[in-house]
Amino acid sequence: MTNLFTSTAAASQAQPATAPATGVGRAVLQLTGIEKVYQTRTIETVALNHVNLTINQGEFVSVMGPSGCGKSTLLSIMGLLDEPTSGTLELDGRPVQSYSDKELARLRNHKIGFVFQSYHLINDLSVLDNVELPLLYRSGVSGRQRRQRAYAALEKVGLGARTSHFPSQLSGGQRQRVAIARALAGEPEIILADEPTGNLDSVMGEEIMDLLLTLNREQGTTIVMVTHDEQQALKTQRLIRFFDGSQVS
Ligand SMILES: Nc1ncnc2c1ncn2[C@@H]1O[C@H](COP(=O)(O)OP(=O)(O)OP(=O)(O)O)[C@@H](O)[C@H]1O
Ligand SMILES: [Mg+2]
Repeated sequence: MTNLFTSTAAASQAQPATAPATGVGRAVLQLTGIEKVYQTRTIETVALNHVNLTINQGEFVSVMGPSGCGKSTLLSIMGLLDEPTSGTLELDGRPVQSYSDKELARLRNHKIGFVFQSYHLINDLSVLDNVELPLLYRSGVSGRQRRQRAYAALEKVGLGARTSHFPSQLSGGQRQRVAIARALAGEPEIILADEPTGNLDSVMGEEIMDLLLTLNREQGTTIVMVTHDEQQALKTQRLIRFFDGSQVS
């Protein structure tokens, strides 16, 4: 696979950095000419087609588009969970390939909180243990602090009374809220949320949306959220629309 290591210089020259929008900070994530091609035995899918996109510090950006247009792929690449086939991703102004593996692991664990579309909870662990999990790999966070932060995050998403349940004992919406709590517990600078309210009723969906808006406003957390809900998207600072692997507005 061609990867982001091969095309950095050419891509950076071709596409200079976009200036940050007024009222927000420097670029935290900069995608230049990002392409993602999935190759299976029978079919090649261009999930992302030369995407150029800048996310600035403190922004709350929503991403909309039809099923299969590449939204989850975009988030995975931004969250360092997957590599593009070509193009450059810069994090805090530095190309991702210039970070060591150790630095990347730290960034994934400290800087970025990911809410997966399919939750990715561990079924053998209680709700509390699931939420504590990302904090286990942090030096300087005691067991007691870990527990406190996990409880606090679960309280925020309305699951303070479900901490000792297991994921299989929860509804879809409750699992989704555990996934959100897990991202919050790490107090990340960037939250990448893939349809965080997709399985919630409208009241709970609003509450989670308010929580994200508050985090963004009061703590300056940068948020990129995929949503199918136009009303929610309109509450964010910028709405990006995708179609067939490309940004269309
Ligand atoms: N691991 C994979 N292998 C092969 N093709 C994949 C893989 N992951 C995604 N795709 C394909 O890439 C395209 C984009 O998928 P992606 O999951 O990013 O879409 P999406 O916009 O998040 O859709 P949805 O709204 O349904 O979640 C789709 O056509 C999908 O089938
Ligand atoms: Mg998706």
